[in-house]
Amino acid sequence: MAKNKLKVGVIGVGAIAHDRHLPYWKELEAEGRAEVIGVCDIIPERVEMIGEKFEVEKRYRSATVMLRNADYDIIDVCTQNRGHAPLTIQALESGANVLVEKPMAMNVKECREMIQAAKKAKRKLMVAQHQRFETRSEQIKEAIVRGDLGEIYYAHGQVLRRRGIPGWAKFHIKKESRGGPVIDIGVHVIDLAVWLMGCPKPIAASGKVYRMFGDRDDLCNAEWGENYTRKEFDVEDFASAFIRFQNNITMSVQVSWAANIPESVESLNILGDKAGATTIPPAIYGYGRDALTSTRFDWLPEQEGHRMEIRHFAECVGKNKPVRVKPEESLEIQKIIDAIYESSQKNREILIR
Ligand SMILES: NC(=O)c1ccc[n+]([C@@H]2O[C@H](COP(=O)([O-])OP(=O)(O)OC[C@H]3O[C@@H](n4cnc5c(N)ncnc54)[C@H](O)[C@@H]3O)[C@@H](O)[C@H]2O)c1
Repeated sequence: MAKNKLKVGVIGVGAIAHDRHLPYWKELEAEGRAEVIGVCDIIPERVEMIGEKFEVEKRYRSATVMLRNADYDIIDVCTQNRGHAPLTIQALESGANVLVEKPMAMNVKECREMIQAAKKAKRKLMVAQHQRFETRSEQIKEAIVRGDLGEIYYAHGQVLRRRGIPGWAKFHIKKESRGGPVIDIGVHVIDLAVWLMGCPKPIAASGKVYRMFGDRDDLCNAEWGENYTRKEFDVEDFASAFIRFQNNITMSVQVSWAANIPESVESLNILGDKAGATTIPPAIYGYGRDALTSTRFDWLPEQEGHRMEIRHFAECVGKNKPVRVKPEESLEIQKIIDAIYESSQKNREILIR
């Protein structure tokens, strides 16, 4: 094995590892830049199936055994949310750099412990916010950095599914995931908006989360399948929130896994005094004295976000470069998420420190 090949291990080989992470690590393997030397899952048949399919010889049912048996350059944590912090910390302590799926963790306390562990081990840690790596996001980011939007003051994000409760894993169970659409899909749109706006510091959030019918036996979950047990559903299915940042910037956001709306929507608008931006389609909307202008970037070939994020992380580890999604930025996103849940429970705005 060439010396500069990164030794990679994946912990939690369910849907996202199978569909995105492993194919892209194998792509790097084919290029001679990495090698997947171990996979781990607590479900024995799953780890065997994945090992066969992706030709990974070492298959483990315990992360402790896996980390003891080899020195990994990179551990990719793809378990459900509950496993993110403990497995990340364990992997960092073993000497690996860690890419961990979103959300960073279940709460702010866990995020702080992960950052502490990365600092102590002097290893890289990055949360897999793949939307930051999509072409559309990069184009808008470039325009914002160039100053095309002028002074940014507001963002509005919506990720609303009419019937899209993810039922194949444990997203709908609070002790496994912490929450529903706020932490599952809200984390994407909030992270993207905050990154695009230059990471202003959040100072307060107000929100309301609702569990209106995700747990009802008569619910038709047509878009995403009928494969979850209704009585286990103990997270929210809808949420609306308002976030304040330093520099007079605000954001409103609405997310749902299931809502009685005409059709599912995904949108992010960012407003500046010179122009506004949307990410879907990627476009800038400005004005002159006599005209309104629209610049669309959707003719660009789209790059798959997970693919680019994995290539980026491998490059950062291989060449000792800083990661795009800094763990301190992910901590700020988790603060917002925690504040939305707390605000909903207490029925008031929560200050963020
Ligand atoms: N970036 C994205 O767009 C995106 C999309 C889907 C999921 N995700 C995230 O990826 C994570 C996994 O989601 P999924 O849909 O793949 O779930 P999944 O249930 O299909 O896969 C998770 C796997 O982790 C395994 N696991 C749990 N605890 C473990 C442990 N201690 N050691 C080893 N294996 C363990 C489970 O057995 C399961 O096979 C979630 O945190 C989710 O938020 C991200």
